[in-house]
Amino acid sequence: MYKLPPLFVSFFLLPTFLTGELISALNKHKGPIISLKWNKKGDYLLSGSIDTTAVVWNVKFGESKQQFDFHSGPLLDVAWRNNDSFATSSADNMIYVCKVGENKPVKTFSGHQNEINAIKWDPSGSLLASCSDDTTVKIWSMKQDVYLHDFREHRKEIHTLKWSPSGAGTSNPNNQLLLASASFDSTVKLWDVELGRLLHSLNGHREPVYSIAFSPNGEYLASGSLDKCLNIWSVKEAKIVKTCNGDGCIFEVCWNKEGNKVAACFANKKVCVYDMRL
Ligand SMILES: *[C@@H]1O[C@H](CO)[C@@H](O)[C@H](O)[C@H]1NC(C)=O
Repeated sequence: MYKLPPLFVSFFLLPTFLTGELISALNKHKGPIISLKWNKKGDYLLSGSIDTTAVVWNVKFGESKQQFDFHSGPLLDVAWRNNDSFATSSADNMIYVCKVGENKPVKTFSGHQNEINAIKWDPSGSLLASCSDDTTVKIWSMKQDVYLHDFREHRKEIHTLKWSPSGAGTSNPNNQLLLASASFDSTVKLWDVELGRLLHSLNGHREPVYSIAFSPNGEYLASGSLDKCLNIWSVKEAKIVKTCNGDGCIFEVCWNKEGNKVAACFANKKVCVYDMRL
């Protein structure tokens, strides 16, 4: 699903970019690069490309540190696990966990039957969640090769997923860790990963859901869809508590740090900010 419509960036944002000075231009990939992440320490950048490789860049020296060429298809997502190891997912249905300095994957996760659109480590870095065009969400552990859980309740391709900001090592340590997934079947589903089961199906959108985001306290989930609606769900009650109708398809939603505003970007070149004090 890497043939996405072009991204629509609001012209409002351009002046901010223009104040940035070019530090270094990093050249190594032989195809479009569609995924890019900083490690926590900030010394490495990780890029994943249609050319089937991932590259770790040494930012200080402005050069590639290592190129990883394990996949046989385009990379669709990359995710750091800690400061020097990361996972990559691909249209070849595979996930590899790699470490800077190692010439072989430290772990291979095989089991998806179609392109893997997104991967995310849980806040503690012990579990990896993946979602695929095969309509499943799978949970992987570094302790085993086969998946820990195989969630099969979605009926169409799954575009993205997010962990709640809760559990050990987060700002909400006493709250239950949850996983949310957004699908072309127009639903968002909440998973209890500990028990390995569906907690809630959030039904309310009428078109594919492209983006989801938990509020900083984990109590709410924002979802943006091709149906032009931004919905805010109460996680506990699995109900819509607020709906904002836009006039274009929504490709990304995000909360501010305080959790009182949500921004959404639209296919009609707009970025909107909504007041979320409920
Ligand atoms: C990564 O590096 C940062 C800064 O050096 C450090 O604070 C953090 O604990 C490291 N994270 C891990 C998972 O090792």
